[in-house]
Amino acid sequence: MGFYDRHILPHVLDCVCGLAPVTGQRRKVVPLARGRVLEVGIGSGLNLAHYDRSQVTSLVGLDPGSELVAIARRRAQRAQMPVEFLELEGEAIPLESESVDTVVVTYTLCSIPDVELALGQMRRVLKRDGTLLFCEHGLAPDPGVVRWQKRIEPLWGKLAGGCHLARDVPALLRGAGFAVELFETAYLKGGPKFASYHYLGAARPR
Ligand SMILES: C[S@@+](CC[C@H](N)C(=O)[O-])C[C@H]1O[C@@H](n2cnc3c(N)ncnc32)[C@H](O)[C@@H]1O
Repeated sequence: MGFYDRHILPHVLDCVCGLAPVTGQRRKVVPLARGRVLEVGIGSGLNLAHYDRSQVTSLVGLDPGSELVAIARRRAQRAQMPVEFLELEGEAIPLESESVDTVVVTYTLCSIPDVELALGQMRRVLKRDGTLLFCEHGLAPDPGVVRWQKRIEPLWGKLAGGCHLARDVPALLRGAGFAVELFETAYLKGGPKFASYHYLGAARPR
């Protein structure tokens, strides 16, 4: 990992992911989390302020990015919320099968290298009646925008921590054995179209 990825990117991500329109999207899904919660790709902990603490019994925040997790640890103290951090990848989640009530993923499925494997892990640790809440950007519905997504993706990935622009979020979830309920699919106003088509919803084990 180079200087940019280690020292600059974490702060860029914290800043961009903390913009007001993005925060508005988080607020639509994160407060729905219940019980024992696993947040995959907790990053700098921007969701911590949005959990309904009366509904969450415990929170595990998993992320391989130690610089981002350091920011999240500070936020967890301010949020007065006990969080167990695991500085690990979503492709190998060290939790027991069917032990989690809610998995939360926000702006993370784009960045996980082996996203199918990671979703399989999330499905494994989720209880049969559990819910995976997602707020993600991905594949746009317009062919012209998709062409740009695919053109830009290689360079974008280098600048944005391996972020993929054109992942089909519902298809990935269905492929991992989830039934998908979409709350919202739309371009986020004010963002570049190639990176702002949003998928918000809940996925449940089939
Ligand atoms: C754009 S950031 C989003 C962070 C946070 N979820 C949020 O909503 O602000 C993408 C996150 O995915 C994480 N990530 C990258 N590879 C991962 C992996 N293999 N497993 C889990 N998280 C990963 C990064 O470390 C980073 O925190």
